[in-house]
Amino acid sequence: MKIENQIALVTGSNRGIGRAIVDALVERGVSKIYAAARNISSLDPLVQEHGSKIVPLELDVTSESQIAKAAEKASDATVVVNNAGYLDPQDLITGDLTAARREFEINYWGPLGITRAFTPVFKTNGGGTFINLSSIAGLSNYPSLPTYSDSKAAVHSLTSGARLLLSGEGINVIGVYPGPVDTDLSKDFEMEKATPASVANAILDGFESGASEVFPDPMSEGYRGPYEAGQKTIENNIAQMLQPA
Ligand SMILES: NC(=O)c1ccc[n+]([C@@H]2O[C@H](COP(=O)([O-])OP(=O)(O)OC[C@H]3O[C@@H](n4cnc5c(N)ncnc54)[C@H](OP(=O)(O)O)[C@@H]3O)[C@@H](O)[C@H]2O)c1
Repeated sequence: MKIENQIALVTGSNRGIGRAIVDALVERGVSKIYAAARNISSLDPLVQEHGSKIVPLELDVTSESQIAKAAEKASDATVVVNNAGYLDPQDLITGDLTAARREFEINYWGPLGITRAFTPVFKTNGGGTFINLSSIAGLSNYPSLPTYSDSKAAVHSLTSGARLLLSGEGINVIGVYPGPVDTDLSKDFEMEKATPASVANAILDGFESGASEVFPDPMSEGYRGPYEAGQKTIENNIAQMLQPA
């Protein structure tokens, strides 16, 4: 599957990994990108850089009405990247639950709403691909980011369930499980980090090779073996159980 000539929508595309995905999509010859952000003027630099390939779209992923409008406007989309994300680490036992609820609103309920809104679009168009940004923290909880990890586990579960449900309809659902990437989100962590550009290119390589999971950096690559031997094996067993007799 080539990325060339696809029509993509990327949430949270104004900075970080989302911005790098837009740059990589343009480089690989995508025909149009709905660059989504909650503050539309934050997309001005992308339009200046890439011109008419970019269609700016106002989209706060916590807004059901904005998600519905996005699905109407981007009704020719063939790839939707659920990239927008939020991290506000709090102590699991004593921390502020408002932060945890916001993490879930953006990291889980947003992608769920977008999956529900764009599945009919993909069905009308004869298929499509969701690319969901989870995290290695979604495969094994990091207690320093406890509720963020929970929210990323939830989007991982959504990814696996939607893949099982929709694969027979020509809809692919790809899970992405990065380790630390050098963006605003990880600015407080002193450790080696992948560049957003390398992660964006690994995601598009995964799309083009037909992968259902992408481990886009050296740290996350260490998760692949255990994941494939464990959770993926269970998912494949469920897929077999769902096959008509
Ligand atoms: N960086 C890492 O180490 C790392 C590792 C694993 C997974 N990830 C995941 O990768 C994705 C991108 O992360 P990043 O590192 O690029 O983060 P980032 O630099 O903090 O960027 C976050 C993006 O999400 C957008 N966003 C936040 N709340 C939103 C909302 N309610 N509606 C729409 N957009 C919203 C932000 O828009 P504003 O500019 O308007 O705030 C921004 O564009 C996230 O899902 C993150 O969890 C990141």
